[in-house]
Amino acid sequence: MNTHPLRELIKNAKLMSGIRQSYGTPTYIYVKGQIEHNVNRLKNTLATYFNKSHICYAVKANSNPHLLRLMKSVHPALGGDCSSPGEIYAAELSDIDPQHCIYTGNYESNNDIAIALDKGIYLNLDDETSFDRLLSVGMPKRISFRLNPGFGKGTFSQITTAGENAKFGIPAEKIIKAYQKAQDAGIKQFGLQCMAGSGNLDEDYWVELLTAIFYHTKKIESKLGISFDFISIGGGLGIPYKDEDTPLDYDRLFSKLSNLMYHNYPDKPSAPALWVEPGKSFIGDAGFILSQVTGLKESYKNFVGIDAGMETLMRPALYGAYHRMFKVGEHGMNNGSYDFTGPICENTDRIAIAREFPKVKEDDLIAIMDAGAYGYAMSHNFNTRPRAAEVLLDGNAHRLIRKRETIEDIFSGCNV
Ligand code: LLP
Repeated sequence: MNTHPLRELIKNAKLMSGIRQSYGTPTYIYVKGQIEHNVNRLKNTLATYFNKSHICYAVKANSNPHLLRLMKSVHPALGGDCSSPGEIYAAELSDIDPQHCIYTGNYESNNDIAIALDKGIYLNLDDETSFDRLLSVGMPKRISFRLNPGFGKGTFSQITTAGENAKFGIPAEKIIKAYQKAQDAGIKQFGLQCMAGSGNLDEDYWVELLTAIFYHTKKIESKLGISFDFISIGGGLGIPYKDEDTPLDYDRLFSKLSNLMYHNYPDKPSAPALWVEPGKSFIGDAGFILSQVTGLKESYKNFVGIDAGMETLMRPALYGAYHRMFKVGEHGMNNGSYDFTGPICENTDRIAIAREFPKVKEDDLIAIMDAGAYGYAMSHNFNTRPRAAEVLLDGNAHRLIRKRETIEDIFSGCNV
């Protein structure tokens, strides 16, 4: 059992009420110290176990430039893993060096490729046909392809990004052909990337994945006579969403991955660098949503209405994802089972289903935990609801890092 790292913070009713008073609800709150801790942990572990390594933060998880800048202040060499021109823009706003960034598109347009190339961002291609299109746009010095090794793993099938059902990556059978094509076109520097799923807490899976990656890199190298500058395992480092989830032991995990690397590439100075593209593991547990109870209904089920619905946090409705929730202040004993729902006109609008929870009343504050990654980033405007505000918490000091959207903002582009 592990308690949430921000559990004590949520007990601070005075602080939480102050935040409600200043910015309203629902509000995304990010804890500075937790982000710093997460970045430092990966940075230090990689430095311990790998001769060469590089981190590209997965901007899709949360693209708030203030948070990107904070991450960069902890790790100045930080790059960004971008998957759209918008994510490139967020990295630029945050002063992240484009040459430290990787662009992983899928079914991207020529215009997307041109933007990444023009900024000097390193391209990771999802298919051989992307390379054909790249040739009509320009020729980079270095290229990598995304491998689909034929299996993958994620918390849910929907976030498993490799294997036979995945739309991503180049199937193992075709990967040599892709590199051959790039080599024939004159490219001399290569990497290989494999992002096979999100939310993995299983150490054995990581070993299995890296073993499969090395099987392919070795085969490609010997067949084509090329060598790899780097190998990226993508993101996918899991975080506990439940008290009973066992967190990854970074020392144990990365020492195993390092053994695998230097077993396959014994000459350390010429071995490929290990790249990691963390999203969830950097920002997931550092962010939560402060929400207010709007109404209680005893129907065939007991409902607690809150002002954060599926427009604010999509993960439960989209994947059936579980997010811990705490009543702000002293939690008290659970007194019943409730469905937590928002104001959205969809019956899938549930933040939690049949959740044991203490008694609450209208206006009580609720914290929805582990919403830092893919929370705000996947929020939307259904029912014409403006997006939430975002706040950074540093000790007891808070500051607005993105103002709440207004109804007028939503309509600002309309020709009425
Ligand atoms: N690199 C690439 C190329 C990716 O596609 C992703 C995530 C990452 C890195 C970061 O993965 P992470 O460290 O966050 O697992 N919306 C889902 C997660 C989808 C992940 C898609 N790609 C969720 O809320 O769980």
